[in-house]
Amino acid sequence: MKKILITGGAGYIGSHTAVALINAGFEPVIIDNFSNSEKSALAGLNKICGREITCYEVDCLDRSGVEKVFLENDFSGVIHFAASKAVGESTRLPLKYYANNIDSLLILLETMSKFGVKDIVFSSSCTVYGQPKELPVTESTPRQDAESPYGNTKKICEDILRDFILSGVDSRIVALRYFNPVGAHPSSEIGELPIGVPANLIPFVTQTAAGIREKITVFGNDYDTTDGTCVRDYIHVMDLADAHVKALAYLSVQKLNFYDIFNVGTGRGNTVLEVIQTFEKVSGQKLNYEIGPRRSGDIEKVWANTDKINKVLGWEAKYSLEDSLRDSWNWQMKLSGKKN
Ligand SMILES: NC(=O)c1ccc[n+]([C@@H]2O[C@H](COP(=O)([O-])OP(=O)(O)OC[C@H]3O[C@@H](n4cnc5c(N)ncnc54)[C@H](O)[C@@H]3O)[C@@H](O)[C@H]2O)c1
Repeated sequence: MKKILITGGAGYIGSHTAVALINAGFEPVIIDNFSNSEKSALAGLNKICGREITCYEVDCLDRSGVEKVFLENDFSGVIHFAASKAVGESTRLPLKYYANNIDSLLILLETMSKFGVKDIVFSSSCTVYGQPKELPVTESTPRQDAESPYGNTKKICEDILRDFILSGVDSRIVALRYFNPVGAHPSSEIGELPIGVPANLIPFVTQTAAGIREKITVFGNDYDTTDGTCVRDYIHVMDLADAHVKALAYLSVQKLNFYDIFNVGTGRGNTVLEVIQTFEKVSGQKLNYEIGPRRSGDIEKVWANTDKINKVLGWEAKYSLEDSLRDSWNWQMKLSGKKN
C-alpha cells in the first residue's frame, strides 16, 4: 500500500481525508502537533477505519522531527494541511501565522527533496480571490490583496510552490483552493472541533441549536445578494476529502516538474439566511438569530466555477447543502452527548 503523509491529519479536513485515502487503498500516516485538534479525533478515525492509523505527535516546524518521520516511512506523496487557520486571530498574531504556515511548508518541501518524495497536495483557500469582480471564480480569476495575514499566508505559500517548480525541481504539486468546508463524516465519529467561539457559520449554527450559544448574529443583510446576506459555496468535507485522493492520482501520472491549481467547491452559492432556513428544515430546530451590522473583512459573495476540477480530475461534489447541514447537526449532537 502506498503511504501518504498527511500533515495536520488529526484536524477537520485531514481526518476525513485519511478515511478517503484508506477507502482508496492508500495508507495514511499522520503528523500533528494537536495545536488545533484533539486526540479523540484519532479514536474516531480508528473506529471508522477499523484499525489504528499511524500518527506522530510532531510539530511541522521541528525539522529533525519531520525528518525522522520520513526516515521511518517510504512516502509516495504528501498532503499538507497543517496550518493555523483562524482569520481573526491572524490579525492579532500575524507572526504566529507567517511562521507556522510558511515555515512548515518550507521545511516540508526541503525534507521531501532530501528524501526524494515528489508529490504534494497543498491546502489553499478561496480567500486568495478576495471579493472577485466576476462570479463564479475560475482558477485564472486574478488573486486580490489578502484581507488578513492568514489569507496572505495562503497566497505566499502558493507563490512559493510556483517558484519552486519554476526553479526546475522534479516535484509535482497541486494546490486545492477550498471554498467553505462543512459537514462531518456520516457516522458522526469525526467532524469539526472548533476551539473557543467558532468563527465559521456552521459550527456557530449547530452550537446555537444545541444551546451552547444563546443566539447567532447574521452580519449584515444589506449586501447585493438575493436576500441581502453574504453568499458562500459550502462544500461537504467528504467531497473535499475525495478531491485530495483524485489530486494524488492525477499527480502520479504527470511529468515531473508540474504545478496545477483547482477550485474545490460545489459551484453553487448560498446566502446565510438560506443556510439557516435549510438547517432548521433538516434538524427540526428553530434557530435563535438576529440581524447585526456587517462584519469588517467579510466578502460579499463568492462561489466556485468547478469546470476545471470536474473535467481534469473527474471530481464533482456529490453531497447537497441539506446533507452537509444534517451531518454537521448529527456531529454536534454526538459532541453534546445526545447521540451515540
Ligand atoms: N476549514 C476551512 O474553512 C478551510 C478553508 C480553506 C482552507 N483551509 C485550510 O485547510 C487546512 C486544514 O484545515 P482544517 O479546517 O482541517 O483545520 P484544522 O485546524 O482542523 O486542522 C489543522 C491541523 O493541523 C495541526 N497543526 C497546525 N499547525 C501544526 C504544526 N506546526 N505542526 C503539526 N500540526 C499542526 C492542527 O493541530 C490541526 O490538527 C489548513 O491549511 C487550512 O488553512 C481550511
